[in-house]
Parts: sequence; structure tokens; C-alpha cells
Amino acid sequence: MPTPHISANVGDFAETVIMPGDPLRAKFIADNYLTNVKQVTEVRNMFGYTGEYKGKRISVMGSGMGIPSMSIYATELYRDYGVESIIRVGSCGSIRDDIQLEDIVVAMGASTDSNVNRQRLNNYDFAAIANYELLEKVMSTAKRLGKTPKVGNVFSADLFYVPEFEVFATLEKYGILAVEMEAAGLYGVAAELGKKALCLLTVSDHIKTGEKMSAADRQLKFGEMIEVTLESIL
Ligand code: HPA
Repeated sequence: MPTPHISANVGDFAETVIMPGDPLRAKFIADNYLTNVKQVTEVRNMFGYTGEYKGKRISVMGSGMGIPSMSIYATELYRDYGVESIIRVGSCGSIRDDIQLEDIVVAMGASTDSNVNRQRLNNYDFAAIANYELLEKVMSTAKRLGKTPKVGNVFSADLFYVPEFEVFATLEKYGILAVEMEAAGLYGVAAELGKKALCLLTVSDHIKTGEKMSAADRQLKFGEMIEVTLESIL
């Protein structure tokens, strides 16, 4: 029974789906980390694959950019395909001196300027948080692999091109680690449907200093985050 945005059959997705924003990154993960891979959806070129990592069945699919795109795919995966856990693997911009390019950030919570969770909760504040079980597994796996991710609150922005840069100073003051564009939406959908979600990010650019990771470094550092994520699922 395909949904409007996913052409897979029920049962085609594993219990856990890893979601980069870019569908070609999903293809990269499937090609380079999974075995026995089958492409399960291609609607709008938002590719999804199911395969195995060290014998464990895992899916990977693009989310697109921004909370609306992520929310559509996460809802259909959880609600219609029986997916239990979604782990976003994305990039983010740092807004503070103690978070540098290449750092891995794990979003324990996600603040936002989006209205989506207020729409869900009668206009109340909602603390959009990660699933603790997934968070704990990722952190213990990271430690085993010699990585030290920064864990805390991120900011899921609706605008990539922000007109008022002063806002980042306020976010920094309140302890926000980095800015991205999907986590608060994913965590809201997971809460609504009683499912699990987590978001890992690699710092690809620094909003304060203007530094950016090279394309080659992006691929390399993205790979390290993928390894932590995949190992945590075993
Ligand atoms: N803003 C929002 N999302 C991002 C950024 C950013 O600066 N960098 C990577 N993802």
C-alpha cells in the first residue's frame, strides 16, 4: 500500500531508518555500508533502500530539507510502514566557539522557530526531545569508537538564509549548540505517533567565523557519524 510520497510495499522498510537530508547520501550509505541492498522507493527521487549492516536489517532514506519535508516522510514511515525508529544524520552550522568544524553534535533536544509543534499542542510550548534509549546507545557506541560527540539542544530553523544574524547570539547564550533544519519536526512527529527518534549532526560550517568544511572532509567526517550510527543499532 504505497503512500502519496513513498512507493514501497508494507514490510519493505526495516524497524530503523537512517535519514540524511540528501537522497544521494542515502544512496551513498546504501552503496558503501550495507549489503543485500534493495531500493524500495524513488518517488520524487527521494530514494530509500533496505539492506543489512553486519547482518542487521536497516533502511536508509532521504528526508529532504526542512521540517515540512522531514515531517511528511517521517509520518508515512512511522504510521504506514511500521517503522519504530528514525535516526537523522545531517549537517549543522555551529554558533559557538567551543563547537568546531567536524565535531559531531547529538540533538538531545531541538528548539525551533517553526510553528509545527504548537499546531500539535494547542499552542503550548513542547520540549522536542530525542528518545533516550537511542541517545544512550549512540553515546556508548561513540565512546567505544573513541569519539566524543557534543550533546545538547540544537535549533531547527525554518530559514537557511537568515535576515537577522543577531538571533544567533541569543541562541548561543541559551546554550544552543548548532543550527539545522529538521530535528524539531522529526521529534514532534515521533511524539505524536509514539515512536523513537534521534538526530546526529556533523558541523559543516561555522556561522560565527564563516569557516566551511571542504567537500572531501564532509564525506570523510560524514562517514564517521554514519559508523557510530550504524554500530549503535546492532
Ligand atoms: N543553518 C541551517 N542549517 C544548516 C546550516 C546552517 O547554517 N549549516 C548546515 N545546516
